[in-house]
Amino acid sequence: MILIAGRTHAAAMAAIHASAFPPGARWREESFAAQLALPGVFGLIDPEGGFILMRIVAEEAEVLTLAVAPAVQRRGIGRALLAEAMVRTRAAGARRILLEVSEQNEAARALYGAAGFAEIGRRRRYYADGADALVLAAML
Ligand SMILES: CC(C)(COP(=O)(O)OP(=O)(O)OC[C@H]1O[C@@H](n2cnc3c(N)ncnc32)[C@H](O)[C@@H]1OP(=O)(O)O)[C@@H](O)C(=O)NCCC(=O)NCCS
Repeated sequence: MILIAGRTHAAAMAAIHASAFPPGARWREESFAAQLALPGVFGLIDPEGGFILMRIVAEEAEVLTLAVAPAVQRRGIGRALLAEAMVRTRAAGARRILLEVSEQNEAARALYGAAGFAEIGRRRRYYADGADALVLAAML
């Protein structure tokens, strides 16, 4: 089940995010609440333990973050959240989605590749662990 995330989901989003990302990469509950209040930002949450946060600016959208709790990974939740986000983003008028992913994040790269994302750039040593970020894009 995928729901539109509101500010009441900020705590759940922070908990899921903290379970899925290393300590240095975590976002606080207040960050999610603040993001969700911004124009063009929307979130989708699966109460089983996953969410995606998107931002749309005119014809371009961005995946701000996507996380699925380790206990429920590899059950299709991430794929379903991304697919629903792409449908809604297109319906809102965007024509392209961008995102950044660590070149070392094989799970996310496989997920995005299967969803039609292709590499359009690279940010060297972008992450705290020294990994490059790949900039991926998908046309809607
Ligand atoms: C990336 C992430 C969101 C995937 O969520 P998920 O619900 O486990 O993914 P799904 O079950 O929907 O998997 C969809 C596809 O992605 C790929 N995939 C997912 N996890 C994978 C893994 N551990 N290794 C390799 N491929 C993987 C597979 O192609 C998979 O399809 P398949 O199961 O039919 O083989 C999740 O692993 C996660 O939260 N990781 C930590 C946070 C993160 O990296 N977020 C993305 C930052 S850009």
